[in-house]
Amino acid sequence: MKPVEIKKDIFWVGTVDWDSRDFHGYSLSPRGTTYNAFLVLDEKVTLFDTVKSNFNEELICSIAQACGGTPRIDYLVVNHLEPDHAGCLDCIVERFHPEKIFCSPMGEKALRSYYHNSQDWPIEIVPTGASISIGKRTVQFIETRMLHWPDNMVSYIPEDKIAFCSDAFGQNWASTERFCDEVDRAALHSAMADYYANIVLPYSAVVLKTLDALAGMNLDIDMLCPDHGLIWRGRDDVAYALNCYREFALQKPKKKAVIVYDTMWHSTEKMARAICDGLTEEGISVRLMSVKHNHHSAVMREVFDAGAVLVGSPTHNNGILPLVADVLTYMKGLRPQNKIGAAFGSFGWSGECVKILTEHLTGMGMEMVEPAVKVKNKPGHDTFQACFELGKKVGQALNAKLQA
Ligand code: FEO
Repeated sequence: MKPVEIKKDIFWVGTVDWDSRDFHGYSLSPRGTTYNAFLVLDEKVTLFDTVKSNFNEELICSIAQACGGTPRIDYLVVNHLEPDHAGCLDCIVERFHPEKIFCSPMGEKALRSYYHNSQDWPIEIVPTGASISIGKRTVQFIETRMLHWPDNMVSYIPEDKIAFCSDAFGQNWASTERFCDEVDRAALHSAMADYYANIVLPYSAVVLKTLDALAGMNLDIDMLCPDHGLIWRGRDDVAYALNCYREFALQKPKKKAVIVYDTMWHSTEKMARAICDGLTEEGISVRLMSVKHNHHSAVMREVFDAGAVLVGSPTHNNGILPLVADVLTYMKGLRPQNKIGAAFGSFGWSGECVKILTEHLTGMGMEMVEPAVKVKNKPGHDTFQACFELGKKVGQALNAKLQA
C-alpha cells in the first residue's frame, strides 16, 4: 500500500481489506474494513500498531516508502493486542529489532500469551499517565481497559494534537479515502453505529467513564485515528465522534421495534406479520427480521437503537429453533439496555417456545409485555387478532416510555 501522510511526518501505513466480511470472527463487515497502523518519523521512528498477519508484506512496503526507501523502526507502540492489529509484531521485531516496545500493563500480559517467543523482547509497560519522548514529540498513554479488550490504550501526541485511539471511534469501511470528511456522513454514521453495536456495546459504561476522563484531561485533539476505518480530522469531526459515542453509550431507545423470528411451516412468520401491523398502528417503525435471512450481526445493528424487541420461534424438540437461540445468545452477550420485550410462537404438541423466549428476554433485563401469544399448529383469525393486539400493546408501552 502507499502510505498516506496525515500530518507532517506522520503516516498511515495500514492496509485496506476489501474482502473482509467475517469481522473478528463473529460479526459482519459488509463494506470490508481497514487495519490502521501509523508511523511517526522523529528521532525515534515510532510505529503505532501493525496489521493482520496476511498483510505483513504490504505493511513493510508502506513503512519503507514512508521512510524514504530504507525502513526503520526504533520504537513500537502496541495500543491493542487483538490479532488484526498485533498480527505482525513478531515479524516487525525480528526484522527491525526495535529498541523498545511499549504497551499497557494488560497489554504485556496479552503479548506474552500471544507471542511465546517474546521473553527477550524489550518491552516497557506504560500505564495511564506515562509519557515518553521520541525526539521533538512526546507520546502520552491512556489505558482504555475493556474498550474493547483489557489491553487497549490510547496514545496521544500533544505536539501534533493527534490521538491513536485503537478500537474507539472505528468503523468497518474499506475505501480509497482515508478521512471521514471525504465520505457520505449518514452512511459513515451507520457504519460507526454498526461497529459500536457489535463490538463496543457491552462496555458502554466504560465508554462513558472514558469520555468523562478524556474531557477531564483537557486534551487538545484535532485528529482521532482509530484502528479500523476512516480518520476523524479537524476539531468539528473529533467532537462529532465523541458525541456519537456518548449518544451510543447512553442507549436511549428510539421509536423503533425489531421483530426477530424463525419459522418452520410459516405459522410463526404469519404471527410476526400480524404483530408488525399492530406496532405500525401505534406509529412505531418496525424491522421484521427472519433469522434465516439476517445474520445475528445485522439483527444486532437494528436492536441497538430500537426501543422494543419481539422474538418468535416455533417449539422444536421441546426448545426453540437453533438460529433463534444463536441470535439470543449473541444479543445477551452484547448486553443491550432499555428495551421492551415480547415473545410469540407456534407449536405442534409440547409448546415450550414462549416460556423459553420469555426467560431469555427477561434474562437480558427487558420489560416484558404480556401475554405472549402462542398457537397450536396454524394461526387463524383469533390468533392474528391476539398478535395484532400484542403489537399494539408493545407500541403503546414504548410510546409511553418515550414520553416519560
Ligand atoms: Fe480489530 Fe479489538 O480490534
